[in-house]
Amino acid sequence: MSTDPNLDELTRRAEAEIEAAADARALEQLRVELLGKKGRVTELLKQLGGMAPEQRKAFGERVNRVKESLAGALERKAAAVAAAELAHKLAAEAIDVSLPGRGEAVGALHPVTRTIRRVERIFASMGFETVEGPEIEDDWHNFQALNIPESHPARAMQDTFYVFNGARLLRTHTSPVQVRTMQARKPPIRIVCPGRVYRVDFDRTHSPMFHQVEGLYIAEDVGLADLKHDLQQFLSLFFEREVEALFRPSYFPFVEPGADVHMRWHAPGQEPRWLELLGCGVVHPNVLQAVGIDPERYSGYAFGMGVERLAMLRYGVDDLRLFFENDLRFLEQFK
Ligand code: PHE
Repeated sequence: MSTDPNLDELTRRAEAEIEAAADARALEQLRVELLGKKGRVTELLKQLGGMAPEQRKAFGERVNRVKESLAGALERKAAAVAAAELAHKLAAEAIDVSLPGRGEAVGALHPVTRTIRRVERIFASMGFETVEGPEIEDDWHNFQALNIPESHPARAMQDTFYVFNGARLLRTHTSPVQVRTMQARKPPIRIVCPGRVYRVDFDRTHSPMFHQVEGLYIAEDVGLADLKHDLQQFLSLFFEREVEALFRPSYFPFVEPGADVHMRWHAPGQEPRWLELLGCGVVHPNVLQAVGIDPERYSGYAFGMGVERLAMLRYGVDDLRLFFENDLRFLEQFK
């Protein structure tokens, strides 16, 4: 394009530099170096002043041509760099829509929750309402109102967690909910009380926190026969078959008479045996008196069962601690 060796050399070098520019910033820097106010090409034009007129015209034209050609090269390279940057970005952010999805993991209710709901549903069908109460209790609601005075030996049955320097305790059963309900309502009262309870105990079949459902029915003329009938009906509904149940005399301070209920259990590959399931009895007159219900007029029954125990039997789980480890491999089996 030019016959001036200096100009040719400058053009070749500039073209090579433009071609080698790695990105938009390097290109802009080059543009200033070549065509800016103090650029290499601009500097050449300053030589025009010292030239003869006809020489000046020819040289000026050549420099201008070089200038235009380099400006064009810069522009083309800028477009190429922008296109490359866009292509790179698109490739880096590409989403392969043909990949298989990760899938939505669907949660499920914990087996203890499922069991509580099942028990509640069955008792609801028998006329029982669900009532809940506080887990931090005082001595009166957890013990004294239930005919367990201070230093009564039965307190040793329930290894208690005391809190607030002994001013409060973690309820050892949900019976205090029954106490609170009897204080607040008039008979007839027919309730079940599910919830967490706490005892100092930990092994394959005991956890320091576990769940209970206790039941209470207070009205006129409610007695042992109603208790046996209703529990028998509950067990058959819960296990979905005829359950052979055995009521064995037992002692709880808040009932008289009291009983442990055992059921005939036939585990696969084993001899059938009697399994202890729950405690129950006819509410002690002292309990009714403590909550302001006339024991001459009203009577009733109460029972209490461990939810984990029921869940272990229903689902064939042999270690109660599994319910509290939150191992998904265990929990996923209850979907
Ligand atoms: N409250 C008793 C316990 O937790 C269970 C029970 C309730 C027993 C009602 C008899 C009657 O041990």
